[in-house]
Amino acid sequence: MTHHDVHLAALFSLILAAPAIGCGDSSNTSDADSEGSSDSSDSSSSSDSSSSSDSSGSDDSCAPALKTYAVDVSEVLADPELTAIRDTYTEATERCEAACLQLFLEMNAAGVTDVVTACEALPPAGATNPDPWDPSHPMITINCTVDTTIDENATCGRRPHGHRELASAAPSWRAWLRRQAHLERASVAAFHELAIWLKERGAPLELVERCLASATDEVDHADRFDALLRREGGEPAPVVAEPCAVSTIEVALHNATEGCVSEAFSALLAMVQAKRARDQELRTLFGRLAADEVRHGQLAWDLHFYLLGELDATARSRVTERLQGALEELAPRAYAQAQAAPLGLGWPRPDEAAALARAFAAGLREQLHRAA
Ligand SMILES: [Fe+2]
Ligand SMILES: [Fe+2]
Repeated sequence: MTHHDVHLAALFSLILAAPAIGCGDSSNTSDADSEGSSDSSDSSSSSDSSSSSDSSGSDDSCAPALKTYAVDVSEVLADPELTAIRDTYTEATERCEAACLQLFLEMNAAGVTDVVTACEALPPAGATNPDPWDPSHPMITINCTVDTTIDENATCGRRPHGHRELASAAPSWRAWLRRQAHLERASVAAFHELAIWLKERGAPLELVERCLASATDEVDHADRFDALLRREGGEPAPVVAEPCAVSTIEVALHNATEGCVSEAFSALLAMVQAKRARDQELRTLFGRLAADEVRHGQLAWDLHFYLLGELDATARSRVTERLQGALEELAPRAYAQAQAAPLGLGWPRPDEAAALARAFAAGLREQLHRAA
């Protein structure tokens, strides 16, 4: 298979060369030196009472997975923010909630929605005036809880059919690593599953071999993230996938969202991270990941066209519709995911992530149009 109807590497070079994305120059984009602790939850007592509010079934797509976490914030609020909040709001409750959200945002933990569910403002220890909002206090302590909802699947790699999502802790460096390691490990299973399925149906050997080679890449990714996670004191979570028999249409739908969209877009993100992550070790890791994931994304597209050829017209249009839907949802999901990503990973800012997603979708539509 030498001809590709969709050519990802060419598309990515075009996107990253565009000035709006600004990845051409890494000199002022690396967030390497501009931050202290990479673990946004270290400074507070984040609880992971992960009250999962909703987890959509993920057996055939990288569907949005909105989950709500209660995050405890316990931080000192000082001037000029303290005065600004005192001047903007009059009610003690409003002031407390505004202060809480401000401190929460500074933890870089913003979700799709953030709701303050409990809030307490305390004057400095030993202060004679018990009113925390009295102008005589130069600083106060805010203890509060925020219910933050994030889309855990905004962008992710390829997961097997029947994959059971990991209930992760509150957004933090370690939680991110744990989830990433888990998704990489899940991708190993996904490619093995795919290789077996293709082989059983007499698909071109070239596709089977590329799936097996991809599984080997994913073992390497998973091992590397496991090592990083362990260094941060975390333990990798085992991958659980419910066994399920799948038809060609199911494989094609799954491949369209997990492979053609999610995995391919994660390759583009990794290319950005390879330039912007906080240190050389991470930049090298993401560079390696990017090179592999571009191949995986290309495999997804080649597989897509093979599978379309195996389906009737009705099934083909279902797959195309699903693909278009996933491309449309990508920008808002990428935005939310970028908001939730801890600093230091070199993620694009939320607006940039959305712009990347839009450029990705537009470029793909153009290539698909030309191929048609
Ligand atoms: Fe991977
Ligand atoms: Fe991959």
